[in-house]
Amino acid sequence: MARMRATAVAHPNVALIKYWGKRDDGEANLPAVDSLSITLGAMQSRSTVAFDPEFADDELWLNGRRAPGEQARLTACLDALRSLAGIGWRARVESRNDFPTGAGLASSASGYAALTVAAAAALGIPAGEPRLVDIARIGSGSAPRSLYGGFVRLEQHGEQTRCRSLLAAADWPLEVVVAVTTEAPKATSSRDGMRLSRDSSPYYPAWLQTQPADLAAAEASIATRDFPALAELAEHNCLKMHAVMLTTRPPLLYWSPATLACLQAIQQWRRDGLPVFFTVDAGPQVKAVCEPAAAAEIEQRLAAIPGVLRTIRGGLGEGARLLTGDD
Ligand code: DP6
Repeated sequence: MARMRATAVAHPNVALIKYWGKRDDGEANLPAVDSLSITLGAMQSRSTVAFDPEFADDELWLNGRRAPGEQARLTACLDALRSLAGIGWRARVESRNDFPTGAGLASSASGYAALTVAAAAALGIPAGEPRLVDIARIGSGSAPRSLYGGFVRLEQHGEQTRCRSLLAAADWPLEVVVAVTTEAPKATSSRDGMRLSRDSSPYYPAWLQTQPADLAAAEASIATRDFPALAELAEHNCLKMHAVMLTTRPPLLYWSPATLACLQAIQQWRRDGLPVFFTVDAGPQVKAVCEPAAAAEIEQRLAAIPGVLRTIRGGLGEGARLLTGDD
């Protein structure tokens, strides 16, 4: 029988109201909090998935190299797709990112979103199948958000994840400048870090308790395109997550001196009247979210901060999609 193969692309996303923490340690990877993100059009993951009866095991090739560390969640994700399709064949996945991998730029989100869409198409699962959101989440809790474009809200209902686009990318065309301060992979994965935070940070219960109010306020500020309100909330939520990380045992200190320099500069620029705010994930890169008219200026200023290696600038992006014309 012929091989079944498909290719898809997906963009990373950055959460403005963060996901940090899991309900339990199960393979289903259920998030303890809902989250809200924007999809980043400037960066991309591309995944080709081929199922073949001759393959002995699933294989992931990430940027041209075998990635054995991913085996457990790769196979869990593919098993869920195989059981939906009723097909047992193993798969070979080739994934490439055009940006630093595993360094706090949500490479796992775009990677697993692209993988889910490509693998589903290769297996003949319809693109609108609602369980694809849950399958992407097995790969990475932030991956379901990369299935959608623009402003995306992720909600966990029991075992089921639901995502919806609050605004399309074109409805509020903000821009994002990423200040890359290291190209190296992070020391502690999000998965391990979240477990440690839940088990040891005294601030973790407060994090869980205050998240619904942050989400509601952010959703309202997006509905009214209220940039200053969203800026204040996103920075607050980001720093609250980092407060949980810092008070984890052992501590999760993801920032570099350049990260802090960027945060302080961005706060000053906003006080001076530039429409910009920051957010930072589990790594030292800083994402500056701004109105389009200010983007070139912000990029220039960030690039001049000592320790910023390079910048990546772009608008908001679309959801994951299949590439046609693949054999
Ligand atoms: C800090 O989705 O990478 O970027 O579900 O364990 O794969 P796993 O974690 P992951 O965590 C993302 C954490 C974050 C915040 C966010 O994107 O919401």
